[in-house]
Amino acid sequence: MASEINRRDVLGGAALVGAAGVGRLLPGDGPRSVGTALAQENRASTPMASVTPHIGTPTSRVDGRAKVTGWARYAAEHIPSGLALGPGLAQGFVVTSDIARGRLARIDPSDALRAAGVIDVLTHENRLPMPDSDKAYQDDVAPAGSPFRPLYDDRIKFSGQPIALVVAEDWETARFAASLVHVEYETEAHVTDIYRQRDKAVALKEPPSPAEAPFFPPKPRGSPEAAFAAAVVRHEGEYYVPIEHHNPMEPFASTALFEPGGKLTIFEKTQGVQNVQRYVTSVLAMKPDEVRVMSPYMGGGFGSGLRPQFQVLLAAMAARKLQRSVRVVLTRQQMYALGYRPAMIQRIGVGANAGGTLDAMLHEAVTVTSQFEDFHRQETGWSGLLYTCPNAKYTHKLAHLDLATSCDMRAPSAATGVYALECAMDELAVALKLDPVELRLRCYSDRDQNTGQPYSSKALRDCYRQGAEAFGWAKRSPGPRSMRDGMELVGWGMATGVWEALQMPIAVRVTLSANGHAEVACATSDIGTGTYTIMTQVAADRLGLPLDAVSIKLGDSTLPQSPVEGGSWIAASVSNGIVTTCEAVRAELLRLARAVPNSPLANAAPDDVTFVDGKLVSRRDPSSAVSIADAMRNGGINPIVEERPTTFPHDGAHAHNTHSAVFAEVKVDEQLGVVRVTRLVNAVAAGRILNPKTAASQIMGGVVWGIGMALHEETLVDHVFGRIMNANIAEYHVPVNADVGDIKVIFVDEPDAIVNPLGVKGVGEIGIVGVAAAIANAVYHATGRRVRDLPITLDKVMA
Ligand code: MOS
Repeated sequence: MASEINRRDVLGGAALVGAAGVGRLLPGDGPRSVGTALAQENRASTPMASVTPHIGTPTSRVDGRAKVTGWARYAAEHIPSGLALGPGLAQGFVVTSDIARGRLARIDPSDALRAAGVIDVLTHENRLPMPDSDKAYQDDVAPAGSPFRPLYDDRIKFSGQPIALVVAEDWETARFAASLVHVEYETEAHVTDIYRQRDKAVALKEPPSPAEAPFFPPKPRGSPEAAFAAAVVRHEGEYYVPIEHHNPMEPFASTALFEPGGKLTIFEKTQGVQNVQRYVTSVLAMKPDEVRVMSPYMGGGFGSGLRPQFQVLLAAMAARKLQRSVRVVLTRQQMYALGYRPAMIQRIGVGANAGGTLDAMLHEAVTVTSQFEDFHRQETGWSGLLYTCPNAKYTHKLAHLDLATSCDMRAPSAATGVYALECAMDELAVALKLDPVELRLRCYSDRDQNTGQPYSSKALRDCYRQGAEAFGWAKRSPGPRSMRDGMELVGWGMATGVWEALQMPIAVRVTLSANGHAEVACATSDIGTGTYTIMTQVAADRLGLPLDAVSIKLGDSTLPQSPVEGGSWIAASVSNGIVTTCEAVRAELLRLARAVPNSPLANAAPDDVTFVDGKLVSRRDPSSAVSIADAMRNGGINPIVEERPTTFPHDGAHAHNTHSAVFAEVKVDEQLGVVRVTRLVNAVAAGRILNPKTAASQIMGGVVWGIGMALHEETLVDHVFGRIMNANIAEYHVPVNADVGDIKVIFVDEPDAIVNPLGVKGVGEIGIVGVAAAIANAVYHATGRRVRDLPITLDKVMA
């Protein structure tokens, strides 16, 4: 076992060779022996072992060449081809509201319309007909409430709201003419400050349906107040996370190609092509086959592309109204009106008994949403789930502000809820004079504390152990301000991370040709996470083909059904969907192979054969084989096409989660208060890792974001105007290379035969969870100063 752990540990390092010191970009594949070792390990630990070794092998992105050569086109880069006859592509520029609340008293496009090259100006006064029911606007992942309707009427609900679309022959003209649209407002009093709305925040009560229960606070247990009052050691603290924005590199954009007859093909930036397709057809009262949404590549979403955004409706409406193709690209500034990680105030009380284990947990959250939709996730649920604690109570209140609706942003609710929890645990460890890892081990739980269910797998102990060892945690001197490097104070902090291992119904189509090529099709997205690559690996393994014999089709609403790509659920969902469909292809191939004259597999049962190198091979006698080509040629079938829907019925008896242990080193300039994250180890337990290379990349991206959350990121609202002040990446600070030290990612071994056949749990979100807390705890250890308001800027360190 020890050697197995070492190999995994080496793998974490190997995937990051060359990353030390600058560690963000992954180099080429790690040493071949590492991949092979892991592949063998995976084979050994699964009963449904595949013979070709792609699953578990560090594999470069199959779409990497297309991306670096520019061959891959993003939403704003598509141009009309034979699809769209008639005049070329028109360009739309969005006019946005300067006020946060009120109504449009007058909107006058006449000057804009007089500008040469302007085609039209769409407003609420001349738009196409739109439905009046909220339901028509509610997309697959809409929260409760009344969704925003672009150009529906004269109401202003948030600053930055679209109020007109200027369409011109070129983008510069559209942008210039947008400045010529005259707008008069009737303003109303607005509120955009969570602290001002705190007392009016509305407590979430019972979930309206069992399906929504995961978004509501967990049920209380025991006698929390009494237990807290009686605790031997108590800590109570208030923690704050500001509004943050996703800032994906690719701007939001829609290219709506108009076909004679009125059909639209929309190249779109989205995490869910079918979600957008349903939304556009619903709002514009079009038939399903009249709108096709394509998103073959996406330059980052992080949750901002889960819901259809307003530019797609504006582009589609303009294309229908003008009977020509229209592109709408948002500016960076305009993207700040699309949704954000809700600001939140959290109060946590933790009480421990004399033995240093948790006795009471009180967790209250106030989060921000708009005045028209109730977006919330379960910030407090993680405190309920993670540690053994007999008495616990949770409340969650919503503060309604005159802003756009908040939305999911990487590890929604966990990045923030676990930040408060893990800082509070650190403060409790200080009060108990316990090592922070030791406190967590004493409270370790093998059951989800909210439900009492055991985990399908939980290798968090291994995360603590391997993470601590890789970091050198044993050398930590416990006292604050007790470690130093020249002019800098050194701090070591740690935190636990947790996320869900979710999976969703999905359908996959596999088309296998006799020449040994397989096409795998599903309407899922690859939002930059590596979905193309893992789909290729899984299909190649299941069909016994080399990677380059498999091609992937995704990001097209006409392909087999997929949920939005979010929640870290696509890797598990689509890879197991591929397994299911490949089983059908394999059964058909075996039927054909058995029918070949003098077939050496004539009596073979499904379990008797493996698929290797384009052949069906007997497990008992590897010399008994029939090639896929021979089987299909003999059967006269080419291609084999199978499509299967796959659902993942929860067994109802287990909790499915991923976990991590994050160890961070900071160095703090004692005189200037500047905080640097010099080293960070993130040890992750996420079931089977399909592709250690792209998975490590996911975790690193999460870590970098966690550094931003801890030290840099904050959307600043001018509450006088109700307007975001730093709507650009110059003033909204994200980590740059100089802010990011050495990052080491470790995947601990976590076999899981329960969660799904491949044992995959997903890694898209776990990488950020716990990072901000580990850094905040390290800043305390370095300086003795506890900063509970994020981001930890130098003024707070020096205050
Ligand atoms: Mo993720 S925040 O579910 O895109």
